[in-house]
Amino acid sequence: MAGVTDRAFRILAREHGCGLVCTEMISDQALLHGNPKTNIILDCRDEQSPISTQLFGSNVEYMARAAEIVAGRGADIIDINMGCPTPKIVKNGEGAALMRTPALAASIVAAVVERVQCPVTVKIRKGWDENSVNAVKFARLMVRSGAAAVTVHGRTRSQFYSGEADWDIIRQVREALDVPVIGNGDVGCPEDAARMLNETGCLGVMIGRASMGNPWIFSRTVQYLATGEALPGPTPQMRRETAVRHYNLLAQTKGEHIANREMRKHLAWYTRGLRGAARLRGLINQGCSREFFTRGFWSLLDEGQ
Ligand SMILES: Cc1cc2nc3c(=O)[nH]c(=O)nc-3n(C[C@H](O)[C@H](O)[C@H](O)COP(=O)(O)O)c2cc1C
Repeated sequence: MAGVTDRAFRILAREHGCGLVCTEMISDQALLHGNPKTNIILDCRDEQSPISTQLFGSNVEYMARAAEIVAGRGADIIDINMGCPTPKIVKNGEGAALMRTPALAASIVAAVVERVQCPVTVKIRKGWDENSVNAVKFARLMVRSGAAAVTVHGRTRSQFYSGEADWDIIRQVREALDVPVIGNGDVGCPEDAARMLNETGCLGVMIGRASMGNPWIFSRTVQYLATGEALPGPTPQMRRETAVRHYNLLAQTKGEHIANREMRKHLAWYTRGLRGAARLRGLINQGCSREFFTRGFWSLLDEGQ
């Protein structure tokens, strides 16, 4: 997830049992131009494998060259984004817009597959809108072009993130393909993950928004799927320790200046639902020091208990 699944986030997700993590999406052109921000997004040094690196773009040659760079830096898997609904992305024919140009999408997959050794996967939506639902046919074409697995987010581009994800389309794609299908959309708790696996037959479940400020979703889901045991959610103390660790990881990888800005959203997520936290939301948005994120904020929260 762009703006979320950076190195600090991925390390925590891994530590909590997530089996496969993915980078934020990376623009092919930014990568080819050596944009410094892109290098930060790409930085997976010493992280536990496997890591999937996600690329977006709509130019066959740029995508193939970007994939070569990423593979050269040791990507385990290259995922191609065909699901991003953001206007500034789709207006360039990238992200979910590729579902409206299947031949181009197929050429991109084929070119990337030809140029790298690692598996190439695609992430798609149900379709562009309710009048053009094409996930099954489109996914088949991606596999014929060389995709090793397909993730399906059960919403159309027109829905963005609203409405309910359609899990039946995930089932239909799964039944049509002979490669792994990963289901995505609206998995908010371990029981949802089990239900998605049962109802769709997909091989894996991708968890997005429910993991923000909540790496325990992974450990709890792994435990639930393995044993049927429903572990409790994190205690306030666990949230505090993990949020402080998150800050330290962010500061280590991006420096304190950036950590101070980026930690605001993570802290708001970590403290969602904690007594007294809503009252401190305004303060979180002004947080600007290590002292605040690792101690000051928590003392204020304790005082309000
Ligand atoms: C803030 C945010 C950033 C996202 N960035 C990406 C991205 O870079 N690549 C991608 O494939 N999907 C991205 N997504 C979509 C999610 O991966 C996922 O498909 C969607 O949120 C539905 O799953 P969920 O209900 O588990 O959140 C993003 C979603 C959010 C909320």
